[in-house]
Amino acid sequence: MKLVSKSIIETKNIAHDLVRALASARLSGRATVLALAGDLGAGKTALTKAIAHELGVAEDVTSPTFVLEKIYRLPKKMPFEHLVHIDAYRLEGVHELEAIGWDEALAHHGNLIVIEWPERVDQAIPHTAHTVRLRAVNETTREIIIPKSLVPLWPEPKTKKN
Ligand SMILES: Nc1ncnc2c1ncn2[C@@H]1O[C@H](COP(=O)(O)OP(=O)(O)OP(=O)(O)O)[C@@H](O)[C@H]1O
Ligand SMILES: [Mg+2]
Repeated sequence: MKLVSKSIIETKNIAHDLVRALASARLSGRATVLALAGDLGAGKTALTKAIAHELGVAEDVTSPTFVLEKIYRLPKKMPFEHLVHIDAYRLEGVHELEAIGWDEALAHHGNLIVIEWPERVDQAIPHTAHTVRLRAVNETTREIIIPKSLVPLWPEPKTKKN
């Protein structure tokens, strides 16, 4: 499913629906993994910020490029306990992902793991991960491709009754 965002506000609206779809996709005994694929500046971090906001994270979400991983504890009413944000851009390989506790993060079913640059650590991404692809169309327009795994769980448009 191809969505188009023409502003940060539209990206926030997409994040709202995405969080609901991911909440419905929760697996028992395992983390929910959202892989964000797309070039530099495609909007992976911008979408992650919007997801974090949607999940009640009050602090400013910055790209974890230099710390590799950031973990946010979420308010009780949220569908996940933690948001784990990983930027794999600078990772040398799967061993570095393992070193920051990837297996433990995956084993915790309350985790929503958002990973930028999943291509860098392809072999470590579980087949149950949801891969959203982003593309910059122009300065303010972003194409956001929702994977088949989430389309059936996508919230109904607000205007539609029943
Ligand atoms: N419709 C839009 N939705 C989201 N971001 C947008 C939109 N239009 C413009 N932008 C801008 O695009 C930029 C996207 O940068 P962002 O850091 O999110 O990219 P990224 O994919 O994480 O890149 P990197 O690979 O460097 O981590 C931001 O500066 C953001 O303000
Ligand atoms: Mg980024």
